[in-house]
Amino acid sequence: MAQLWKGRFRKELAKETNDFNSSIKFDCRMFEEDITGSIAHATMLGAAGIIEQSEAEKITAELADILADIKSGRLEIDTEAEDIHTFVEGELTKRLGQTGKRLHTARSRNDQVALDIRMTLKKEIDEISGKLRELIGVLCDKAEENKGTIMPGYTHLQRAQPITFAHHLMAYAAMLCRDLDRLGDVSRRMNVLPLGSGALAGTTYPLDRHMVADLLGFDDVSSNSLDGVSDRDFCIELASALSLIMVHLSRFSEEIIMWCSWEFKFVELDDAFSTGSSIMPQKKNPDIAELVRGKSGRVFGDLMTLLTVMKGIALAYNKDMQEDKEAIFDAVDTVKMCLNAFTPMIETMTVLKDNMRNAAAKGFINATDCADYLVGKGLPFRDAYKATGELVAICIDKGLTLETLPIEEYKAVCDIFDEGVYDAINLEKCVNDRLVEGGPSKQSVEEQIIKARDYTAK
Ligand code: ARG
Repeated sequence: MAQLWKGRFRKELAKETNDFNSSIKFDCRMFEEDITGSIAHATMLGAAGIIEQSEAEKITAELADILADIKSGRLEIDTEAEDIHTFVEGELTKRLGQTGKRLHTARSRNDQVALDIRMTLKKEIDEISGKLRELIGVLCDKAEENKGTIMPGYTHLQRAQPITFAHHLMAYAAMLCRDLDRLGDVSRRMNVLPLGSGALAGTTYPLDRHMVADLLGFDDVSSNSLDGVSDRDFCIELASALSLIMVHLSRFSEEIIMWCSWEFKFVELDDAFSTGSSIMPQKKNPDIAELVRGKSGRVFGDLMTLLTVMKGIALAYNKDMQEDKEAIFDAVDTVKMCLNAFTPMIETMTVLKDNMRNAAAKGFINATDCADYLVGKGLPFRDAYKATGELVAICIDKGLTLETLPIEEYKAVCDIFDEGVYDAINLEKCVNDRLVEGGPSKQSVEEQIIKARDYTAK
């Protein structure tokens, strides 16, 4: 297919150069945005009297037909074209002759591609935000069912203090709510129309940029034409927000993988979200979680690609910037794919409550509460801490827990103890007394669920 820039060249492009230069294989996914953007541009050209109104109408009608034809499969995108912009303009000219050639008045592919990427990514952000909302909803539902499911909370992967599974899940919901917020920020800053920047220096035509912005749902127009065509901050910001989503999904995946092991056995994944081994008949592997953890690397790589591509290029547009699309599309597609598999995996997993409760009963996770009990009886915390530490050491020697250690042993270490200590170290009580906002008590977790649900309803 012919290039748009033939005039000053005497030779055909070498085949290798053509393949190397072409971007249609990855920018063809923006065909709808490219055509919609062109319809808005032509509408404005007609309204501003830059081209004849009748010609503008012919162009917009034909562009709409081209769009419908691509969508229905009647028109195939020619992968020999240099890029999607060339293809659409070529097809329009094929159909309309001279009139089609008027579409590109007062426009460059530089501002056109900047527009197309913004429009494409705005849609992708909406889709990913929807998927995040779904996952947060699933976490809230699961938390609802597990407000009384006691489990050990960990620091250094050592049993630390009692929490509930609901509390643990809502920690991930909090992270994902921040991710949602970040995507909203990126989308808001992205929502600026670059069209009208031309190749780099704007244009002499009396464009109505605000009209195009309104037609395409942009909040504003870019303030400087050099920046308008060479800004890819929004790709980097999005890749960064997507990287954080992957950090969160990857940490969650790591926990799922641990919880599925025989050493923990806190959850069992549904068969539909697990795989087997070709040699070991007993195996049930958490491959989905492992893949999500692994795929985080791709998205971080995409972020690094974008940063590196952008860091050294002089203003304004340079062809290096064509590299933006493969990186950001890969990040977007990877996150969508991960969420598609991750959410139903969480939704269908079985929570092995007894195993969590049994693990919570070991490891002295109520030792802080034992010390707090002594503080309640007037002892300074440091002394209470030391006395409890001694009790833990005695328990370890005798193979007992704080619950099963006789009261005489308690009294021998510190005579303030009475039978009330057994109530104070009861795990359910330890959890449900932690009424502090953000804490693990039933009441606190209920508040967290309401907050997350409210947030995702926005
Ligand atoms: N395929 C190009 C890109 O993605 C479109 C812009 C081409 N502009 C140019 N001056 N060669 O960046």
